[in-house]
Amino acid sequence: MMMSRGARRHAGSVSRYFSTAVLRPATAAALDAGIGCAFRAWNPAMASVEALVARMGFPVAGSRRMSTVALGDKQQDEKKIEGSAGGAAATNTGPSGGEIVSYWGVAPSKVSKEDGTEWKWSCFRPWETYKADLNIDLKKHHVPVTFLDKVAYWTVKSLRLPTDIFFQRRYGCRAMMLETVAAVPGMVGGMLLHCKSLRRFERSGGWIKALLEEAENERMHLMTFMEVSKPKWYERALVISVQGVFFNAYFLAYIISPKLAHRIVGYLEEEAIHSYTEFLKELDKGNIENVPAPAIAIDYWRLPPDSTLKDVVMVVRADEAHHRDVNHFASDIHYQGQQLKDSPAPLGYH
Ligand SMILES: [Fe+2]
Ligand SMILES: [Fe+2]
Repeated sequence: MMMSRGARRHAGSVSRYFSTAVLRPATAAALDAGIGCAFRAWNPAMASVEALVARMGFPVAGSRRMSTVALGDKQQDEKKIEGSAGGAAATNTGPSGGEIVSYWGVAPSKVSKEDGTEWKWSCFRPWETYKADLNIDLKKHHVPVTFLDKVAYWTVKSLRLPTDIFFQRRYGCRAMMLETVAAVPGMVGGMLLHCKSLRRFERSGGWIKALLEEAENERMHLMTFMEVSKPKWYERALVISVQGVFFNAYFLAYIISPKLAHRIVGYLEEEAIHSYTEFLKELDKGNIENVPAPAIAIDYWRLPPDSTLKDVVMVVRADEAHHRDVNHFASDIHYQGQQLKDSPAPLGYH
């Protein structure tokens, strides 16, 4: 199943979603950005890099376009390039809508969806999207056997009580707040494995990427729930405090015992599945309004345009089940006396 999801992800994204990639040639960019300035000062008659290139015997007219590497129909790409990679100074649109000009030649790539409309998300690209596997077993549970398993299990269970008291049945808010925590372990684990790989001159078996993928996936859950629930000032303050404590606690736990750290996350994910199941029950009862799905969720999980919050919660819950599997699996690898790099990571499994 892992392989088929991964293959589908790549095949689908490249052929159906990824219509244009604009890459500027390093040579032209370097000439434009670096040599151009000095050269203009040295010889005013050679006022442009194009003139220099012409003297060197290369075609000048449309030199940038001629040397642009693009996937797909060349003429169609040229139209898109018109608006994306202008001159030596690349332009981009900033958050305030104003144009940012830079002479570094870093041109924003323009990507289109399969229907020809522009891809509007800069925080993720079409090839990072996927269809969630809703058939995953949601009831799977790792029975705590060893002392460390029990520590992990009861640590998570004890965290559940204050969470239940604080949020009660406000599941939208609860989901948003918990995602701010859930996105931490993957980043911490990935970062520590990254540093270990550098220190020991060894490969990671794909686990750095797998854990960072998990962190990014969790962060996308947060970006989605932000659209349906806005944090109040005291909730923001709580997130800052919790992050300060949790990041450091997990960092230390991962250094001391990665098998405990992954087991804790495995149980946290089991709790997340439970929370989202309760969320769905509240939606079914009508206690929470089943509003239309946020646009970012529709694009990220490739949902039908008329999807609702319930559809979003279903795919998020499926993601949590995948995180559960990955983290219990990682803990099991350590339990069997091996390191994560000894077993290929389940890349794209979420
Ligand atoms: Fe999540
Ligand atoms: Fe998760």
